[in-house]
Amino acid sequence: MSQRVYIFDTTLRDGEQSPGATMNREEKIRLARQLEALGVDIIEAGFPAASQGDFEAVRDIARTVRGCQIAGLCRAIPTDIDRAWEAVREGEHGRIHTFLATSDIHMQYKLRKTREQVLEMVDAAVRYAASKTSNVEFSAEDASRSDPDFLVQVFTRAIDAGATTINVPDTVGYIQPQEFADLIGYLLEHIPNAHKAVFSVHCHNDLGLATANTLAALRAGARQAEVTLAGIGERAGNAALEEVVMAMEVRKDYYGLETGIVKEQIYPSTRLLSLIIGQPIPPYKSIIGSNAFAHESGIHQDGVLKHRQTYEIMTPESVGRAAEDMVLGKHSGRAALKARLEGLGYALSEEQVDIVFAAMKKLADRKKEIFIEDLEAVVLDEIFRIPDKYRLEYLSAISGNMAIPNAVVKMYVDGEERTVSDFGTGPIDAVFHTISKTVGRTPKLLRYAVNAITGGTDAQGEVTVRIEENGKSAVGRAADADIIVASAKAYINALNRLAKREEETVWARV
Ligand code: KIV
Ligand code: ZN
Repeated sequence: MSQRVYIFDTTLRDGEQSPGATMNREEKIRLARQLEALGVDIIEAGFPAASQGDFEAVRDIARTVRGCQIAGLCRAIPTDIDRAWEAVREGEHGRIHTFLATSDIHMQYKLRKTREQVLEMVDAAVRYAASKTSNVEFSAEDASRSDPDFLVQVFTRAIDAGATTINVPDTVGYIQPQEFADLIGYLLEHIPNAHKAVFSVHCHNDLGLATANTLAALRAGARQAEVTLAGIGERAGNAALEEVVMAMEVRKDYYGLETGIVKEQIYPSTRLLSLIIGQPIPPYKSIIGSNAFAHESGIHQDGVLKHRQTYEIMTPESVGRAAEDMVLGKHSGRAALKARLEGLGYALSEEQVDIVFAAMKKLADRKKEIFIEDLEAVVLDEIFRIPDKYRLEYLSAISGNMAIPNAVVKMYVDGEERTVSDFGTGPIDAVFHTISKTVGRTPKLLRYAVNAITGGTDAQGEVTVRIEENGKSAVGRAADADIIVASAKAYINALNRLAKREEETVWARV
């Protein structure tokens, strides 16, 4: 059996189902390009039949990204399969990923179908998908709670009908590692045509076992792992790419498996994700959290100074975490900036480099040292954060112990210029009030957080807000050396995301 494990990244599909992780088309394309640089084998780019926006994002990723397969998810019905194929067909080797539930509880209450009917549906759906491409994946939703012997029948039929990847999801994060290894072993042993397909696993983290279950299944013979950056995903999330990959790397002696992942791109990829979705990585998160390589106790520090491996099982450099160096100063030129951007994997046009250069110069006037994180924040704000509906043109806010805080805002709403001023209990409140008045919306502010991107009093402030209106919530993020400006931009970013969510009629989510 081959020792090569295929990494199937579903950050853009299952990951996007994580509350507040909605991304727009440009953000998805940017992240997909980073996943390509990371060396994932398959990118599940979305669920094309879910909305026009999802369809276009998957199609554009398939058109843009080379070097990995692009998959589109679809239910086991012809119209969904058509839509998925339409979206991925221009990709290098587009994959149709179709799924149907196989557990008794799902079949009885959700699908209202008998086992025989489900078998027929699987056969028909896979056969139909295989008439379009030889790259077909079939997932038995809620496989871990399905009768193993029924799974044997389902997967045998799916492979006969043309499925080349068979996915065994632990949809509700229920199974235990040894139990999952046994299930995979059982399936591989009892499915007569198992050798014609790659077996895959897709684990959710409801009991905190997604990574452990994935690794147990790989040891038992699965050869595709479905994962997301930082483990984001539906409910408690999915198995984290960085954990699964680094466990196999650090414990090669135990697993004897390999992947095509460029490990040094792990940290930059998760950092980009965090910037895009506006959710910080928890400091204690394994491998990518800010504390993951910080040694606090004196005994540990002493040990690390004497010999790094006393307390470090991998180096920060091995996952791309050594980039704390200064990237630009006031006098740095455009060529240096361009080279730095290329080094970070940003393939920008000359015009885009000009935009970033102008923004960096402006920032360098206010901030002595500019770090990678500052540069990334600028690129994201200036290039990848397309202000869809609402755009800030001008902002001024007044506060102080003798002044009534007030703000003046000039904005474009669907291209129409509006200028409004209003008061608040503090400058941020005044700014948010004024913006709400300008755009004619009254969302509730659920969360407001400010972080310094790098050290020093001149650090850029990174503001994250979460808002809610009419039962829909959205997260916004922005960075600026002035935290009031960062707050305004983050608020507008959240409003744009909310507007985007309203435009999309998302009629099907897994
Ligand atoms: O969790 C799940 O079962 C899924 C499938 C669609 C693969 O996301
Ligand atoms: Zn899932």
